[in-house]
Amino acid sequence: MPTETVYGLAGHALDPAALARIFEVKRRPFFDPLIVHVADTAAARRLWREMPGAAVRLAEAFWPGPLTLVLPKAGHVPDLATSGLPRVAVRVPAHPVARALLEAAGIPLAAPSANPFGALSPTCAEHVARAFEDGIDCVLDGGPCDVGVESTVVGWDGDVPLLLRAGGIAPEDIEAVLGRPLRRDAPTALDGAAAESPGALPWHYAPRTPLRLRDADERPAPEEGWGLLWFGRAAEPAGYARVENLSPAGDAREAAAHLFAALHRLDHAGLRGIEALPLPEHGLGLAVNDRLRKAAAKTAGN
Ligand code: TXA
Ligand code: MG
Repeated sequence: MPTETVYGLAGHALDPAALARIFEVKRRPFFDPLIVHVADTAAARRLWREMPGAAVRLAEAFWPGPLTLVLPKAGHVPDLATSGLPRVAVRVPAHPVARALLEAAGIPLAAPSANPFGALSPTCAEHVARAFEDGIDCVLDGGPCDVGVESTVVGWDGDVPLLLRAGGIAPEDIEAVLGRPLRRDAPTALDGAAAESPGALPWHYAPRTPLRLRDADERPAPEEGWGLLWFGRAAEPAGYARVENLSPAGDAREAAAHLFAALHRLDHAGLRGIEALPLPEHGLGLAVNDRLRKAAAKTAGN
């Protein structure tokens, strides 16, 4: 299914057989829980034990949209959806085709990003079809995704809000609604367990071509047969076999929207390696840099 962030591999969230099939097709380890998609806040509430005021305020501000909220699950949510964790991640997507699908289906849909585990996320129907030549019944083509990075994931440790994954909504915008800071070191902070938000795994989102993320102030050092993932108005350095500029205007939102498509293109260009430049570390730059760091960490063999 299309969503405004990335395409999802969707199945009935309350049917353990459908959930097991998602893990199998995606080759995803069972410790990595799924995000459940619903049509509206009322449907989200039914999946949780309760919805605290802070979560209601975030839902009012950002749903439908690229925000996922993690709260204690209701009894009927299968353990497979949460990988045995006591909380379930839920979001209301904004994409019109996703909304039409959820309304027509009348059931919650569990949907991880529609890529094999650890690989680049898909931002158009073609990426999905290429990644799963068999194993899936169909791809619902909703065109290219306009946000282009996954949803921002927020949870709570008591009443302290946690940023569990940087994503399509800038953390600063969430903090403005909450009136307090998000804990940014949060992925490992929920109940003190590293496995509590596996999106925090050190490697993920990786192209098959080796990727090197340079420091913001490091000078370009092109090597034979390497490509460059560039950002902003500055002239593109010479000497690279191929250059993709994520946003010639230097806009982080535009860069996020183009990130995975540019990485897919570089990955299929027969390059020996990809050098990437980090974005300024705020707003959607956080989500882009998080994806680039994880892609580089996979290359480094972490
Ligand atoms: O934008 C998105 O969020 C996309 C589209 C399809 O909606 N979905 C997506 O799903 O990115 P996925 O499965 O690739 O990422 C799910 C991540 C997990 O790796 C984890 O970090 C977090 O969401 N998550 C899910 N359930 C959780 C839970 N119970 N506790 C903590 N973190 C959870
Ligand atoms: Mg994913």
